[in-house]
Amino acid sequence: MKILIREPKTREDFEKYYELRWRVLRAPWGMPKGSERDDRESESIHVMACVGDEVVGVGRLHLNSSEEAQIRFMAVAEGYRGRGIGGLILEELERRARLMGARRVVLNAREKAVHFYEKHGYRVVAKAHKLFNEIQHWKMMKEL
Ligand SMILES: CC(C)(COP(=O)(O)OP(=O)(O)OC[C@H]1O[C@@H](n2cnc3c(N)ncnc32)[C@H](O)[C@@H]1OP(=O)(O)O)[C@@H](O)C(=O)NCCC(=O)NCCS
Repeated sequence: MKILIREPKTREDFEKYYELRWRVLRAPWGMPKGSERDDRESESIHVMACVGDEVVGVGRLHLNSSEEAQIRFMAVAEGYRGRGIGGLILEELERRARLMGARRVVLNAREKAVHFYEKHGYRVVAKAHKLFNEIQHWKMMKEL
């Protein structure tokens, strides 16, 4: 399986990119299309994993300050998990954070994803919010 990690560029790329984000992170809780976006999309770096024409993984990076980058909206399509795709997306986002001069990356991890981020050098620094009244999040950080 050949996996290509790249930025979405065309309108079609972005449609597939947001569709996967919605399908994995919002649809299971009955949230409508559009709920997968926030107000920082235009200033963010978007990365996706492609297998042929299919987008199978996504992730996003933005700066909170000149020192601190934040990752949000990491999602890998169900049938493609556990094969290193999330790791490739994370590494690319971290590379981009370094290029922008950030010293650390922060994120709010869903409880089920905490182990994934720990394997990549992140540590839990605080208890964060509960999404949809049920998904506990943990604030995690990694020094670059
Ligand atoms: C978390 C997620 C992005 C990781 O991507 P991935 O491509 O499955 O991850 P990788 O293959 O690079 O790494 C595998 C690790 O991810 C973790 N993981 C979390 N959920 C997993 C799942 N459903 N299937 C497989 N691995 C999962 C495991 O810790 C695994 O480590 P292990 O091999 O030691 O058990 C992906 O599983 C996913 O989209 N999950 C659902 C949505 C989500 O929780 N997003 C994160 C929001 S903070």
